[in-house]
Amino acid sequence: MTKLIKRSWAEPFKIKMVEPLKMTFRIEREKALKEAGYNTFLLRSEDVYIDLLTDSGTNAMSDYQWAGLMLGDEAYAGSKNFYYLWDNVKKYYGMPYFVPTHQGRAAEHMISKILIKPGEYVAGNMYFTTTRVHQELAGATFVDVIIDEAHDSQNLHPFKGNIDIQKLKDLFKKVGTKKIAYVYMAGPVNMAGGQPFSITNLKEVSALCKKNNIQLWFDATRATENAYFIKMREKGYEKKTIAQILKEICSYFDGLWVSAKKDLMVNIGGILATRNKHVFEEARNMVVIYEGLHTYGGLAGRDMEAMARGMEEMVCFDNIKARIGQVEYCGKQLEKYDIPMVRPFGGHAIFLDAKAFLPHLKQDVFPAQTLASEIYLDSGVRSMERGIVSAGRNAETGKHNYPNLELVRLTFPRRVYTQAHIDVTVESIAEVYEHRKKVKGLVMVYEPKYLRFFQARFKKI
Ligand code: F0G
Repeated sequence: MTKLIKRSWAEPFKIKMVEPLKMTFRIEREKALKEAGYNTFLLRSEDVYIDLLTDSGTNAMSDYQWAGLMLGDEAYAGSKNFYYLWDNVKKYYGMPYFVPTHQGRAAEHMISKILIKPGEYVAGNMYFTTTRVHQELAGATFVDVIIDEAHDSQNLHPFKGNIDIQKLKDLFKKVGTKKIAYVYMAGPVNMAGGQPFSITNLKEVSALCKKNNIQLWFDATRATENAYFIKMREKGYEKKTIAQILKEICSYFDGLWVSAKKDLMVNIGGILATRNKHVFEEARNMVVIYEGLHTYGGLAGRDMEAMARGMEEMVCFDNIKARIGQVEYCGKQLEKYDIPMVRPFGGHAIFLDAKAFLPHLKQDVFPAQTLASEIYLDSGVRSMERGIVSAGRNAETGKHNYPNLELVRLTFPRRVYTQAHIDVTVESIAEVYEHRKKVKGLVMVYEPKYLRFFQARFKKI
């Protein structure tokens, strides 16, 4: 009888170039954190050891992408890199029309301006910080229609990114379908902990929108991760490739925006793509005002080349498996110390549940912000607050929004850190957990008007 032998997976690449990391002493970190107003966004990257702030623009490009940089056609108009990128937008996202943007929020800005009239509503599967601010600046009110399970960190629903069809119908009824600027779905949902939606749910949302003549848009920033979860969890998709699933997902949408700084594994770039000719014409007019000519949209030719090449790599199954496998590995190690986290583990990050981690802290003293500070102090590992600070204030009442999820995000840049870096991170979090009862909260001493989490400053209580 043959014995079953365990086979581990490993990254489908090896390391060609290294970037040294600086290690610091606690006393240096105390000083750096104080200077940064206890906001990990305000730390200098030099003072960070393992940087899990974000997976945005922090990825390692492949040799194929780096080689592409040398082929940048920096013509002001009609760069060949633009046409190559456009071909790949058609090939992988299945959208015929496209304008490049310098990053995701630039596309969000334009689409909000194009589709929203003041006083209208946008419905979506949970808010995202930059997305909502552009919707609000264009005069819309954002309405969260995600399923309730998404707001519960311990619920094991495999598709916590799904839209609650009844909530959507109720909204249509309440405000009238003419007042809905558009519906959008992000996949996976960043603020819910990197949770995917299912194709079954997407089909239902799409049918309902079509019936009511409402456009459905897609935040495809990490779409390949959503496709991976569909392959792993949804019946009928086991044998399909990531590229096939991605194309099918996109086929239900009128258009999409992408922050290329994630899936496409580049340092800068964004995409606005659509099958709607009218929206395309508007976007093409607008891009020249805010970004640059429609054939470069705020990017260098070389950036567009790296994006086009990254798109070819992003649909590689082994790449995504290794990426999500790394996130899962971190979660499983943290589990050994009973660290409270969002379940199921997400696509791009592990989200620590700061409410359960620091149950003695009220949400008004910013538990997640505090926890991110404590982890940095312990080891120089940088993470990000995704709780009450990120949720901002209610546009009408001016009061804090109090999200159910008060989280710290440990985000994994693609192809950057090793399993040993994760072990060090896990040990540090376990150490902070050990001493959690001694941790006190923070007070906010400076608050910017928009997207306050980026620049707010705090003091220790
Ligand atoms: N949509 C999603 C789902 C995002 O995660 C981001 C950025 C954007 C849009 C905006 O794109 O940064 O290129 O302008 N998320 C980063 C993060 C900042 O850390 O999660 P951008």
